[in-house]
Amino acid sequence: MSAPHEILVLGGNFGGIGLVHYLFKITIPSLQKLDPTKTFHITLVTPNTDLFFKIGSPRALINDKLIPESKILRPLSEGFSKYKPEQFTLAQALATSHDASKRTVTITPVGSETTKELLYNSLFIATGTTSSSPLWTFHPDPALTSAAFKSLHASLPAAKTVLIAGGGAVGIETAGEIATFFPSIKVTLLSGAAQLLPNQSPVLGPRAQAYLETHAKVEVIHNLRVYGSDISETGTTMTLSDGSTKTTDLYIDATGGKANTEFLKADWLDGTKRVLTRDAYFRVKGNGSDDVEGVYVLGDVVAGSANSAMALDGQTPTVASAFAVDFARKVIGVEAGEKKNPGLLGGLVGLVFGKKDAAPSLVEFKPMKDTIVVPIGPHGGVGLVMGWRFPSFFISKVKGKSFLLELVDPLLTGDKWKA
Ligand SMILES: Cc1cc2nc3c(=O)[nH]c(=O)nc-3n(C[C@H](O)[C@H](O)[C@H](O)COP(=O)(O)OP(=O)(O)OC[C@H]3O[C@@H](n4cnc5c(N)ncnc54)[C@H](O)[C@@H]3O)c2cc1C
Ligand SMILES: *[C@@H]1O[C@H](CO)[C@@H](O)[C@H](O)[C@H]1NC(C)=O
Repeated sequence: MSAPHEILVLGGNFGGIGLVHYLFKITIPSLQKLDPTKTFHITLVTPNTDLFFKIGSPRALINDKLIPESKILRPLSEGFSKYKPEQFTLAQALATSHDASKRTVTITPVGSETTKELLYNSLFIATGTTSSSPLWTFHPDPALTSAAFKSLHASLPAAKTVLIAGGGAVGIETAGEIATFFPSIKVTLLSGAAQLLPNQSPVLGPRAQAYLETHAKVEVIHNLRVYGSDISETGTTMTLSDGSTKTTDLYIDATGGKANTEFLKADWLDGTKRVLTRDAYFRVKGNGSDDVEGVYVLGDVVAGSANSAMALDGQTPTVASAFAVDFARKVIGVEAGEKKNPGLLGGLVGLVFGKKDAAPSLVEFKPMKDTIVVPIGPHGGVGLVMGWRFPSFFISKVKGKSFLLELVDPLLTGDKWKA
Protein backbone atom coordinates (compact mmCIF):
# COMPACT_ATOMS: atom_id res chain seq x y z
CA MET A 1 0.00 0.00 0.00
CA SER A 2 1.18 3.51 -0.83
CA ALA A 3 1.14 6.45 1.62
CA PRO A 4 -2.38 7.67 2.36
CA HIS A 5 -3.76 10.53 0.29
CA GLU A 6 -3.77 13.51 2.67
CA ILE A 7 -6.96 15.58 2.70
CA LEU A 8 -6.75 18.80 4.65
CA VAL A 9 -10.03 20.41 5.74
CA LEU A 10 -9.84 23.96 7.14
CA GLY A 11 -12.73 24.98 9.40
CA GLY A 12 -14.69 22.57 11.57
CA ASN A 13 -18.27 23.70 11.93
CA PHE A 14 -21.29 23.28 9.63
CA GLY A 15 -19.38 22.89 6.37
CA GLY A 16 -16.23 21.14 7.61
CA ILE A 17 -17.99 18.67 9.92
CA GLY A 18 -20.52 17.68 7.28
CA LEU A 19 -17.79 17.29 4.66
CA VAL A 20 -15.52 15.05 6.77
CA HIS A 21 -18.40 12.64 7.41
CA TYR A 22 -19.47 12.76 3.76
CA LEU A 23 -15.96 11.90 2.58
CA PHE A 24 -15.62 8.98 5.02
CA LYS A 25 -19.09 7.64 4.46
CA ILE A 26 -19.64 8.10 0.74
CA THR A 27 -16.71 9.44 -1.28
CA ILE A 28 -13.80 7.40 0.07
CA PRO A 29 -15.64 4.04 -0.07
CA SER A 30 -16.62 4.76 -3.68
CA LEU A 31 -13.00 5.51 -4.63
CA GLN A 32 -11.77 2.42 -2.81
CA LYS A 33 -14.23 0.36 -4.80
CA LEU A 34 -12.48 1.66 -7.88
CA ASP A 35 -9.02 0.98 -6.45
CA PRO A 36 -8.86 -0.93 -3.14
CA THR A 37 -5.14 -0.16 -2.69
CA LYS A 38 -5.80 3.55 -2.11
CA THR A 39 -5.93 4.87 1.46
CA PHE A 40 -6.88 8.30 2.78
CA HIS A 41 -6.19 10.43 5.83
CA ILE A 42 -8.15 13.55 6.77
CA THR A 43 -6.83 16.33 8.99
CA LEU A 44 -9.43 18.80 10.22
CA VAL A 45 -7.89 22.11 11.28
CA THR A 46 -10.17 24.25 13.43
CA PRO A 47 -9.75 26.25 16.65
CA ASN A 48 -12.94 24.90 18.27
CA THR A 49 -13.39 21.53 19.97
CA ASP A 50 -17.20 21.89 19.92
CA LEU A 51 -19.76 22.07 17.17
CA PHE A 52 -21.51 25.46 17.48
CA PHE A 53 -25.11 25.23 16.32
CA LYS A 54 -25.40 28.97 15.88
CA ILE A 55 -28.86 28.75 14.33
CA GLY A 56 -30.09 28.39 17.92
CA SER A 57 -28.24 31.48 19.20
CA PRO A 58 -31.14 33.99 19.14
CA ARG A 59 -33.07 31.86 21.63
CA ALA A 60 -30.08 30.46 23.53
CA LEU A 61 -29.02 34.00 24.44
CA ILE A 62 -32.26 34.55 26.41
CA ASN A 63 -31.39 32.23 29.31
CA ASP A 64 -29.88 28.80 29.94
CA LYS A 65 -33.28 27.07 30.22
CA LEU A 66 -35.02 27.56 26.85
CA ILE A 67 -31.98 26.19 25.02
CA PRO A 68 -29.22 25.04 27.39
CA GLU A 69 -25.71 25.73 26.15
CA SER A 70 -25.01 21.99 26.05
CA LYS A 71 -27.50 21.70 23.17
CA ILE A 72 -25.81 24.19 20.87
CA LEU A 73 -22.19 23.58 21.87
CA ARG A 74 -21.45 19.88 21.46
CA PRO A 75 -18.02 18.19 21.63
CA LEU A 76 -16.71 17.31 18.17
CA SER A 77 -15.40 14.07 19.69
CA GLU A 78 -19.01 12.83 19.86
CA GLY A 79 -19.02 12.75 16.09
CA PHE A 80 -15.39 11.97 15.28
CA SER A 81 -14.23 9.44 17.91
CA LYS A 82 -15.40 6.64 15.60
CA TYR A 83 -12.57 7.39 13.16
CA LYS A 84 -9.19 5.77 13.80
CA PRO A 85 -6.01 7.88 14.15
CA GLU A 86 -4.68 6.46 10.89
CA GLN A 87 -7.82 7.87 9.19
CA PHE A 88 -8.44 11.14 11.00
CA THR A 89 -6.68 13.86 13.01
CA LEU A 90 -8.29 16.88 14.65
CA ALA A 91 -5.83 19.78 14.91
CA GLN A 92 -7.09 22.47 17.27
CA ALA A 93 -5.49 25.35 15.42
CA LEU A 94 -6.02 28.22 13.02
CA ALA A 95 -4.77 28.11 9.46
CA THR A 96 -2.46 31.13 9.30
CA SER A 97 -0.83 30.89 5.88
CA HIS A 98 -0.91 28.90 2.69
CA ASP A 99 1.69 28.12 0.03
CA ALA A 100 0.10 26.97 -3.20
CA SER A 101 3.37 25.92 -4.86
CA LYS A 102 4.61 23.88 -1.87
CA ARG A 103 1.05 22.63 -1.27
CA THR A 104 1.27 23.41 2.44
CA VAL A 105 -0.85 25.18 5.03
CA THR A 106 0.78 26.69 8.09
CA ILE A 107 -1.27 26.29 11.24
CA THR A 108 -1.01 27.96 14.64
CA PRO A 109 -2.37 25.86 17.51
CA VAL A 110 -4.78 27.70 19.83
CA GLY A 111 -2.89 29.42 22.64
CA SER A 112 0.52 28.85 21.04
CA GLU A 113 3.05 30.87 19.06
CA THR A 114 4.81 27.97 17.39
CA THR A 115 3.54 27.18 13.94
CA LYS A 116 3.44 23.93 12.04
CA GLU A 117 3.41 23.20 8.32
CA LEU A 118 0.96 20.63 6.95
CA LEU A 119 1.34 19.12 3.48
CA TYR A 120 -1.80 18.31 1.56
CA ASN A 121 -2.74 16.35 -1.53
CA SER A 122 -6.26 17.79 -1.50
CA LEU A 123 -7.43 20.90 0.35
CA PHE A 124 -10.92 22.00 1.37
CA ILE A 125 -11.50 25.54 2.68
CA ALA A 126 -14.54 25.83 4.98
CA THR A 127 -13.50 28.60 7.33
CA GLY A 128 -16.76 30.59 7.19
CA THR A 129 -16.99 34.10 8.57
CA THR A 130 -16.39 35.83 11.90
CA SER A 131 -19.05 38.20 13.21
CA SER A 132 -18.04 40.97 15.57
CA SER A 133 -20.10 39.34 18.33
CA PRO A 134 -19.11 35.77 19.29
CA LEU A 135 -22.84 34.99 19.71
CA TRP A 136 -23.07 34.18 15.98
CA THR A 137 -19.73 32.61 15.07
CA PHE A 138 -16.67 31.32 16.88
CA HIS A 139 -13.88 33.81 17.40
CA PRO A 140 -10.19 32.82 17.21
CA ASP A 141 -10.58 32.10 20.94
CA PRO A 142 -13.64 29.81 20.85
CA ALA A 143 -14.22 30.23 24.61
CA LEU A 144 -15.59 33.74 23.95
CA THR A 145 -18.82 32.29 22.58
CA SER A 146 -19.88 30.64 25.83
CA ALA A 147 -18.79 33.75 27.74
CA ALA A 148 -21.01 35.97 25.56
CA PHE A 149 -24.08 33.81 26.26
CA LYS A 150 -23.41 33.84 30.01
CA SER A 151 -22.96 37.60 30.01
CA LEU A 152 -26.35 38.17 28.34
CA HIS A 153 -28.08 35.66 30.63
CA ALA A 154 -26.84 37.72 33.55
CA SER A 155 -27.62 41.17 32.16
CA LEU A 156 -30.91 40.76 30.25
CA PRO A 157 -33.20 40.34 33.29
CA ALA A 158 -32.17 43.78 34.60
CA ALA A 159 -32.12 45.59 31.25
CA LYS A 160 -34.73 48.18 30.29
CA THR A 161 -33.44 48.97 26.81
CA VAL A 162 -31.71 46.84 24.20
CA LEU A 163 -30.36 48.14 20.90
CA ILE A 164 -29.69 45.64 18.14
CA ALA A 165 -27.76 46.55 14.99
CA GLY A 166 -28.39 44.49 11.87
CA GLY A 167 -31.51 44.19 9.74
CA GLY A 168 -30.84 40.67 8.49
CA ALA A 169 -32.39 37.45 9.79
CA VAL A 170 -30.12 37.30 12.85
CA GLY A 171 -31.04 40.82 14.05
CA ILE A 172 -34.75 40.27 13.40
CA GLU A 173 -34.85 36.91 15.17
CA THR A 174 -32.92 38.28 18.14
CA ALA A 175 -35.19 41.33 18.45
CA GLY A 176 -38.22 39.03 18.33
CA GLU A 177 -36.85 36.72 21.02
CA ILE A 178 -35.85 39.44 23.47
CA ALA A 179 -39.11 41.36 23.02
CA THR A 180 -41.15 38.17 23.51
CA PHE A 181 -39.36 36.75 26.54
CA PHE A 182 -38.71 40.15 28.19
CA PRO A 183 -41.84 42.18 27.34
CA SER A 184 -40.77 45.00 29.66
CA ILE A 185 -37.58 45.66 27.67
CA LYS A 186 -37.78 48.32 24.98
CA VAL A 187 -36.12 46.74 21.95
CA THR A 188 -34.85 48.89 19.08
CA LEU A 189 -33.57 47.41 15.82
CA LEU A 190 -31.33 49.48 13.54
CA SER A 191 -31.56 48.07 10.04
CA GLY A 192 -28.69 50.02 8.50
CA ALA A 193 -30.47 49.84 5.11
CA ALA A 194 -33.70 51.13 3.55
CA GLN A 195 -35.62 48.04 4.68
CA LEU A 196 -35.20 44.83 6.65
CA LEU A 197 -33.78 41.72 4.91
CA PRO A 198 -32.24 43.79 2.10
CA ASN A 199 -30.68 40.70 0.48
CA GLN A 200 -33.96 38.80 0.18
CA SER A 201 -37.01 39.15 -2.03
CA PRO A 202 -38.25 42.75 -1.43
CA VAL A 203 -41.68 41.60 -0.23
CA LEU A 204 -40.20 40.02 2.88
CA GLY A 205 -38.61 42.97 4.73
CA PRO A 206 -41.80 45.04 5.14
CA ARG A 207 -43.64 41.94 6.35
CA ALA A 208 -40.96 41.24 8.93
CA GLN A 209 -41.14 44.85 10.09
CA ALA A 210 -44.95 44.75 10.43
CA TYR A 211 -44.70 41.52 12.44
CA LEU A 212 -42.00 42.95 14.70
CA GLU A 213 -44.00 46.13 15.34
CA THR A 214 -47.41 44.55 15.97
CA HIS A 215 -46.53 41.25 17.67
CA ALA A 216 -43.31 42.15 19.45
CA LYS A 217 -43.51 45.96 19.88
CA VAL A 218 -39.99 46.31 18.49
CA GLU A 219 -39.07 49.74 17.14
CA VAL A 220 -37.41 49.48 13.71
CA ILE A 221 -35.22 52.33 12.46
CA HIS A 222 -33.81 52.32 8.93
CA ASN A 223 -30.73 53.84 7.31
CA LEU A 224 -28.88 54.24 10.58
CA ARG A 225 -25.67 52.41 11.42
CA VAL A 226 -23.58 52.11 14.54
CA TYR A 227 -20.11 53.60 14.10
CA GLY A 228 -18.80 53.10 17.61
CA SER A 229 -19.79 52.16 21.12
CA ASP A 230 -18.58 53.16 24.53
CA ILE A 231 -19.45 51.10 27.59
CA SER A 232 -19.80 52.91 30.93
CA GLU A 233 -21.58 52.48 34.29
CA THR A 234 -24.84 53.84 32.86
CA GLY A 235 -24.95 51.60 29.80
CA THR A 236 -23.53 51.69 26.33
CA THR A 237 -23.42 54.92 24.34
CA MET A 238 -23.54 54.38 20.60
CA THR A 239 -22.30 56.81 17.99
CA LEU A 240 -24.56 56.57 14.95
CA SER A 241 -23.94 57.21 11.26
CA ASP A 242 -25.96 60.47 11.34
CA GLY A 243 -23.62 61.87 14.00
CA SER A 244 -26.11 61.45 16.85
CA THR A 245 -25.63 59.28 19.93
CA LYS A 246 -27.95 56.83 21.66
CA THR A 247 -27.59 55.28 25.10
CA THR A 248 -28.85 51.78 25.80
CA ASP A 249 -28.54 49.26 28.65
CA LEU A 250 -27.41 46.55 26.27
CA TYR A 251 -26.07 46.64 22.73
CA ILE A 252 -26.06 43.57 20.50
CA ASP A 253 -24.16 43.63 17.21
CA ALA A 254 -25.97 41.40 14.72
CA THR A 255 -24.37 42.75 11.57
CA GLY A 256 -22.78 40.30 9.14
CA GLY A 257 -19.42 38.62 9.49
CA LYS A 258 -16.05 38.97 7.75
CA ALA A 259 -14.77 36.06 5.68
CA ASN A 260 -11.99 34.07 7.36
CA THR A 261 -9.44 34.15 4.56
CA GLU A 262 -6.51 36.10 6.01
CA PHE A 263 -4.33 33.04 5.40
CA LEU A 264 -4.96 33.18 1.63
CA LYS A 265 -3.50 35.52 -0.99
CA ALA A 266 -5.72 38.46 -1.92
CA ASP A 267 -5.76 37.47 -5.61
CA TRP A 268 -7.78 34.35 -4.73
CA LEU A 269 -10.62 36.43 -3.23
CA ASP A 270 -13.56 38.58 -4.34
CA GLY A 271 -14.43 42.06 -3.04
CA THR A 272 -15.93 40.60 0.16
CA LYS A 273 -12.75 38.53 0.70
CA ARG A 274 -14.59 35.30 -0.13
CA VAL A 275 -12.85 32.58 -2.17
CA LEU A 276 -13.40 32.69 -5.94
CA THR A 277 -14.35 29.43 -7.69
CA ARG A 278 -13.45 28.41 -11.24
CA ASP A 279 -16.52 26.25 -11.91
CA ALA A 280 -19.91 25.22 -10.51
CA TYR A 281 -18.31 22.37 -8.53
CA PHE A 282 -16.52 24.67 -6.07
CA ARG A 283 -13.01 24.12 -7.39
CA VAL A 284 -10.96 27.12 -6.29
CA LYS A 285 -10.00 29.56 -9.05
CA GLY A 286 -6.67 30.86 -7.74
CA ASN A 287 -5.01 33.73 -9.59
CA GLY A 288 -4.60 32.09 -12.98
CA SER A 289 -1.15 30.59 -12.50
CA ASP A 290 -1.06 29.24 -8.93
CA ASP A 291 -1.36 25.48 -8.41
CA VAL A 292 -5.03 24.99 -7.51
CA GLU A 293 -5.28 21.32 -8.48
CA GLY A 294 -7.29 19.56 -5.77
CA VAL A 295 -8.23 22.76 -3.93
CA TYR A 296 -11.92 23.28 -3.09
CA VAL A 297 -14.12 25.59 -1.03
CA LEU A 298 -17.53 25.31 0.65
CA GLY A 299 -19.89 27.17 2.98
CA ASP A 300 -20.18 30.85 3.82
CA VAL A 301 -16.62 31.54 2.63
CA VAL A 302 -17.47 30.78 -1.05
CA ALA A 303 -17.69 33.88 -3.28
CA GLY A 304 -21.38 34.60 -3.92
CA SER A 305 -22.53 32.14 -1.24
CA ALA A 306 -26.07 32.30 0.12
CA ASN A 307 -24.57 32.14 3.64
CA SER A 308 -26.94 29.40 4.68
CA ALA A 309 -26.57 25.99 6.27
CA MET A 310 -29.24 24.77 3.89
CA ALA A 311 -26.98 25.46 0.89
CA LEU A 312 -24.41 23.06 2.35
CA ASP A 313 -26.83 20.14 1.98
CA GLY A 314 -26.38 20.38 -1.79
CA GLN A 315 -22.92 21.89 -1.88
CA THR A 316 -21.25 19.10 0.10
CA PRO A 317 -22.14 16.26 -2.34
CA THR A 318 -21.16 18.57 -5.22
CA VAL A 319 -17.74 19.58 -3.90
CA ALA A 320 -17.03 15.99 -2.80
CA SER A 321 -17.88 14.81 -6.32
CA ALA A 322 -15.35 17.27 -7.77
CA PHE A 323 -12.70 15.83 -5.45
CA ALA A 324 -13.69 12.26 -6.39
CA VAL A 325 -13.57 12.99 -10.12
CA ASP A 326 -10.20 14.75 -9.81
CA PHE A 327 -8.76 11.93 -7.70
CA ALA A 328 -10.04 9.25 -10.08
CA ARG A 329 -8.48 11.04 -13.04
CA LYS A 330 -5.15 11.96 -11.49
CA VAL A 331 -4.42 9.08 -9.13
CA ILE A 332 -6.36 6.13 -10.55
CA GLY A 333 -6.26 7.23 -14.19
CA VAL A 334 -9.94 7.07 -15.19
CA GLU A 335 -12.16 9.85 -16.50
CA ALA A 336 -15.50 10.83 -14.92
CA GLY A 337 -18.19 8.22 -15.46
CA GLU A 338 -15.77 5.94 -17.33
CA LYS A 339 -15.12 2.33 -16.34
CA LYS A 340 -11.71 1.38 -15.09
CA ASN A 341 -10.00 -1.12 -17.41
CA PRO A 342 -11.44 -4.10 -15.58
CA GLY A 343 -9.17 -6.96 -16.64
CA LEU A 344 -10.78 -10.30 -17.29
CA LEU A 345 -11.96 -11.07 -13.76
CA GLY A 346 -13.13 -7.51 -13.03
CA GLY A 347 -14.96 -7.51 -16.34
CA LEU A 348 -16.88 -10.61 -15.35
CA VAL A 349 -17.67 -9.10 -11.94
CA GLY A 350 -18.82 -5.96 -13.71
CA LEU A 351 -21.10 -7.98 -15.96
CA VAL A 352 -22.71 -9.63 -12.96
CA PHE A 353 -22.91 -6.66 -10.59
CA GLY A 354 -23.42 -3.78 -13.02
CA LYS A 355 -21.21 -0.68 -13.07
CA LYS A 356 -19.82 -1.03 -9.59
CA ASP A 357 -16.40 0.03 -10.77
CA ALA A 358 -17.54 3.06 -12.75
CA ALA A 359 -15.55 6.19 -11.98
CA PRO A 360 -17.36 8.92 -10.03
CA SER A 361 -19.33 11.63 -11.85
CA LEU A 362 -19.88 15.27 -11.03
CA VAL A 363 -22.98 16.08 -8.97
CA GLU A 364 -24.78 19.30 -9.95
CA PHE A 365 -25.50 21.92 -7.27
CA LYS A 366 -29.17 22.96 -7.35
CA PRO A 367 -29.84 25.29 -4.44
CA MET A 368 -33.37 26.06 -3.25
CA LYS A 369 -33.88 29.63 -4.41
CA ASP A 370 -35.78 32.26 -2.38
CA THR A 371 -36.22 30.05 0.64
CA ILE A 372 -35.81 31.53 4.11
CA VAL A 373 -37.49 31.07 7.48
CA VAL A 374 -37.31 33.90 10.02
CA PRO A 375 -39.08 33.19 13.32
CA ILE A 376 -40.07 36.23 15.38
CA GLY A 377 -40.66 34.77 18.82
CA PRO A 378 -41.96 31.20 19.33
CA HIS A 379 -45.37 31.68 17.71
CA GLY A 380 -44.79 33.05 14.24
CA GLY A 381 -42.61 35.02 11.87
CA VAL A 382 -42.06 35.47 8.15
CA GLY A 383 -40.60 33.36 5.39
CA LEU A 384 -40.55 32.21 1.78
CA VAL A 385 -40.34 28.76 0.18
CA MET A 386 -39.13 28.92 -3.43
CA GLY A 387 -40.43 32.48 -3.48
CA TRP A 388 -43.85 31.59 -2.04
CA ARG A 389 -45.12 33.04 1.18
CA PHE A 390 -44.68 30.80 4.23
CA PRO A 391 -47.66 31.16 6.60
CA SER A 392 -46.73 32.47 10.05
CA PHE A 393 -47.95 29.43 12.03
CA PHE A 394 -45.80 27.25 9.80
CA ILE A 395 -42.69 29.31 10.61
CA SER A 396 -43.30 28.50 14.24
CA LYS A 397 -43.69 24.78 13.47
CA VAL A 398 -40.59 24.59 11.27
CA LYS A 399 -38.17 26.76 13.25
CA GLY A 400 -39.72 29.01 15.90
CA LYS A 401 -40.55 26.24 18.35
CA SER A 402 -37.21 24.47 18.56
CA PHE A 403 -34.80 26.47 16.38
CA LEU A 404 -33.98 23.39 14.28
CA LEU A 405 -32.16 21.69 17.17
CA GLU A 406 -33.19 18.35 15.65
CA LEU A 407 -30.50 18.98 13.01
CA VAL A 408 -27.62 18.94 15.52
CA ASP A 409 -27.22 15.19 16.00
CA PRO A 410 -27.38 14.22 12.31
CA LEU A 411 -24.78 16.90 11.52
CA LEU A 412 -22.46 15.98 14.37
CA THR A 413 -22.56 12.22 13.76
CA GLY A 414 -22.78 12.32 9.97
CA ASP A 415 -26.11 10.46 10.05
CA LYS A 416 -27.53 13.14 7.80
CA TRP A 417 -25.71 11.53 4.87
CA LYS A 418 -27.17 8.30 3.57
CA ALA A 419 -24.74 5.98 1.79
C1 LIG B 1 -28.25 33.21 14.23
C2 LIG B 1 -28.09 32.46 12.95
C3 LIG B 1 -29.18 31.80 12.41
C4 LIG B 1 -29.06 31.08 11.22
N1 LIG B 1 -30.16 30.43 10.74
C5 LIG B 1 -30.05 29.69 9.62
C6 LIG B 1 -31.17 28.96 9.11
O1 LIG B 1 -32.26 28.98 9.68
N2 LIG B 1 -31.00 28.23 7.98
C7 LIG B 1 -29.82 28.17 7.32
O2 LIG B 1 -29.73 27.49 6.31
N3 LIG B 1 -28.74 28.86 7.76
C8 LIG B 1 -28.83 29.62 8.89
N4 LIG B 1 -27.73 30.31 9.36
C9 LIG B 1 -26.48 30.29 8.58
C10 LIG B 1 -25.59 29.06 8.87
O3 LIG B 1 -25.37 28.92 10.24
C11 LIG B 1 -24.27 29.24 8.13
O4 LIG B 1 -24.53 29.36 6.76
C12 LIG B 1 -23.32 28.05 8.35
O5 LIG B 1 -22.94 27.99 9.69
C13 LIG B 1 -22.09 28.17 7.47
O6 LIG B 1 -21.23 27.12 7.71
P1 LIG B 1 -19.65 27.27 7.46
O7 LIG B 1 -19.08 25.93 7.79
O8 LIG B 1 -19.39 27.88 6.16
O9 LIG B 1 -19.15 28.33 8.54
P2 LIG B 1 -19.14 28.22 10.13
O10 LIG B 1 -20.25 27.37 10.62
O11 LIG B 1 -19.02 29.60 10.63
O12 LIG B 1 -17.78 27.45 10.44
C14 LIG B 1 -16.51 28.00 10.18
C15 LIG B 1 -15.49 27.26 11.00
O13 LIG B 1 -14.18 27.64 10.59
C16 LIG B 1 -13.38 27.88 11.73
N5 LIG B 1 -12.30 28.79 11.33
C17 LIG B 1 -12.34 30.13 11.18
N6 LIG B 1 -11.15 30.61 10.77
C18 LIG B 1 -10.33 29.54 10.66
C19 LIG B 1 -8.96 29.37 10.27
N7 LIG B 1 -8.19 30.41 9.90
N8 LIG B 1 -8.45 28.11 10.28
C20 LIG B 1 -9.21 27.05 10.64
N9 LIG B 1 -10.51 27.15 11.00
C21 LIG B 1 -11.05 28.38 11.01
C22 LIG B 1 -14.35 28.46 12.73
O14 LIG B 1 -13.86 28.37 14.05
C23 LIG B 1 -15.57 27.56 12.50
O15 LIG B 1 -15.42 26.37 13.22
C24 LIG B 1 -27.82 31.04 10.55
C25 LIG B 1 -26.72 31.71 11.09
C26 LIG B 1 -26.83 32.40 12.28
C27 LIG B 1 -25.63 33.13 12.85
C1 LIG C 1 -0.09 34.33 -9.04
O1 LIG C 1 0.64 34.38 -7.83
C2 LIG C 1 1.98 33.90 -7.94
C3 LIG C 1 2.57 33.81 -6.55
O2 LIG C 1 2.28 34.96 -5.78
C4 LIG C 1 2.74 34.83 -8.86
O3 LIG C 1 4.08 34.36 -8.99
C5 LIG C 1 2.05 34.84 -10.21
O4 LIG C 1 2.68 35.76 -11.06
C6 LIG C 1 0.58 35.20 -10.08
N1 LIG C 1 -0.06 35.02 -11.37
C7 LIG C 1 -0.88 35.91 -11.92
C8 LIG C 1 -1.46 35.55 -13.25
O5 LIG C 1 -1.16 36.98 -11.39
